[in-house]
Amino acid sequence: MSEYKIAPSVLSADWLHLGRSVEDLNASGCDYIHYDVMDGKFVPEMSFGVTVMREMKKVTDLPLDVHLMIEDPIRNVKSFATNGAKFITVHVEACRDIGETLDYIRSFGVVASLSVKPKTPVEAVFPYLEKCGMILIMSVEPGFGGQAFMPEALDKIRLLREEIDRRHCNVDIEVDGGINMETVVLCKDAGANVFVSGSALFKGDLKENTAKMRTLLK
Ligand code: DX5
Ligand code: ZN
Repeated sequence: MSEYKIAPSVLSADWLHLGRSVEDLNASGCDYIHYDVMDGKFVPEMSFGVTVMREMKKVTDLPLDVHLMIEDPIRNVKSFATNGAKFITVHVEACRDIGETLDYIRSFGVVASLSVKPKTPVEAVFPYLEKCGMILIMSVEPGFGGQAFMPEALDKIRLLREEIDRRHCNVDIEVDGGINMETVVLCKDAGANVFVSGSALFKGDLKENTAKMRTLLK
């Protein structure tokens, strides 16, 4: 199996025909489904909660990569953890107690992941690397799909990769926002290994786009 993982963001799926979108994801050759949860407070918009994820879980075996863009996320960890999430990402900017939130995620056997928004220094996650299976670097302001990639994310990925290697931690680096056929290569070269992509994968043929992205990650 490839060390590189492709995680289409379901935010960009065809929501009028979500069942069909999940079938397409199942057949696409992707590795995870990235599931963006927004509360209208941490980010301006609202998206979807655990109810929709529970229904999706019935029709897919793909690991669900839940990105909680919500304030005080510990309140919602249990319901996502017990309804099929494989990964749960919380934001350093949103937690009241980061360590406690990560421990709580792990207590359900779910992979804990910590994210930083573009303006937050990546060093904010360093004290928590031992508690995390993944770190998510945001390469756009969270809240909307279809935004342009912010190249500042590349330095953060490099710095984080150095720190992970120096400390011999077993932590994936995920990048999210504006990932397309060009930026995916930049992020891979900087040291990321999990790639979230919404608009670039869902525009046109998901299976073809996923295969094309895969060839760029060889
Ligand atoms: C943004 C979300 C992303 C988004 C990515 O707040 O976290 O997962 O759906 O979409 P694209 O790839 O279109 O930037
Ligand atoms: Zn996301």
